[in-house]
Amino acid sequence: MIKFVTFGTLFISTFMKHDGFSTKAGAIAAAVGSAVGLGNIWRFPYIVGENGGAAFLIVYIIFTILIATPVLLSEFTIGRMTGKPVTAAFRQLAPGKKWHIVGFSGVMCAFIIMSFYNVVTGWTLFYTGQAIGGELSAMNEAQIAQTFADTSSNPLTSILWMVAAVIIVAYVVANGVEKGIERCSKILMPLLLVLIVGISVRSVTLDGASSGLEFLLSPDFSKLTPKALFAALGQAFFSLSIGMGTMTTYGSYISKKDNLTADAVSVSMFDFFIAFLGGLMVFPCAFAFGVNPGMGPGLVFVTLPNIFNQMAFGQLISIAFFLLLAVAAVTSSISLFEVLVSYGTSRFGISRKRSALIGAVLTVATGVGCSVSSELFDFCDNLSANVLLPLGSFFIVLFVPHVIGKAKVRAELEAHGGKCKVFDIFYFLVKYIVPVAIMLIFVVSMLNWLGIDIWN
Ligand code: TRP
Repeated sequence: MIKFVTFGTLFISTFMKHDGFSTKAGAIAAAVGSAVGLGNIWRFPYIVGENGGAAFLIVYIIFTILIATPVLLSEFTIGRMTGKPVTAAFRQLAPGKKWHIVGFSGVMCAFIIMSFYNVVTGWTLFYTGQAIGGELSAMNEAQIAQTFADTSSNPLTSILWMVAAVIIVAYVVANGVEKGIERCSKILMPLLLVLIVGISVRSVTLDGASSGLEFLLSPDFSKLTPKALFAALGQAFFSLSIGMGTMTTYGSYISKKDNLTADAVSVSMFDFFIAFLGGLMVFPCAFAFGVNPGMGPGLVFVTLPNIFNQMAFGQLISIAFFLLLAVAAVTSSISLFEVLVSYGTSRFGISRKRSALIGAVLTVATGVGCSVSSELFDFCDNLSANVLLPLGSFFIVLFVPHVIGKAKVRAELEAHGGKCKVFDIFYFLVKYIVPVAIMLIFVVSMLNWLGIDIWN
């Protein structure tokens, strides 16, 4: 069983001052920092809410175990085997072949995710300001709902805060101070965790919380649609930051002494745990205050302010929550923005600062699009999670058995000197189950999209 204690040591241990991450905890903490973000607290609840609740959650768990975690381990393996970031890793393992295109599609995908992710980070910044100003604590349910509607439909507010988010992220990446941010997030993220646990406890003890718990935990499989399968798969990939090479790059920093399999399982379990807590915070509260769980991307923002008003020190808690959520969002955005910036420096030979500036201008441009058009926002959100990440993951898992091969993969997974007990299962999953499952889900969803219903 994976020890959650690891995370304690992982969060408090400090970075050593080398290139990259010279401690085990450094590389894994960075991977956790990338994985845990808005995907867990903002996206997970709204996707669960749109897809009917508990039955979706079960599918999500199955996909995380059988599909997403093997992809994560594949990315770690490719990265650590070569010690190189994604495109270079593919070039080294398959010289003269086209595999590095997967790396390029990752750059496009990072750009598309950034386009809407910064808008949401902007919302968390705006809500931090509202919480500090005390506006939120004076509101009733209707006013809270109205605040989100006004914010998201007012282009000026949305754009302004989105630009603020981009400036923070670009500044951090341009000046290479990610490590400083990661070091401070190692103190702040456990704090966020404590807050989330506290808020969840309050949420499940609200009057009227039980129907929310039932929604999250008591499955009704008749509500499952092909779209829900697609959404569950996409969410699993999005939440673990897999399918575009980010985790390959982090894998290249992981020490050879590490048990890579245990690392992948730990990251995945921890990420799920945070998402689940996200659900526990949101649904009981949503049902208690009459918020429609299927309302879409505003869910967490329309729901949680209600609960803060029911808690002792509610204003303080709301300030801390939105601020820490913004930090979690920024650490994830950094991992996305880094992909763009290093592409600029390596492909066009420009400086880091210039590359960051160009990246910032481009993401502000598409971010403006996503701020003013919820259609574009949804399009980018869907395209990245439900199409590009599954496709990227598909090619990454093909690479493992078909290019690297069984003996070398096993050697890498046992490089720490121990035995990989689940090797045969892992290899079977990546060779047969994962690619077939991704394609199957794709085809079923496409057919459904074309109006051919093979579900009933
Ligand atoms: N996983 C992050 C979250 O849950 C988002 C993210 C960061 C991401 N980097 C990524 C998603 C790379 C896919 C690929 O918020």
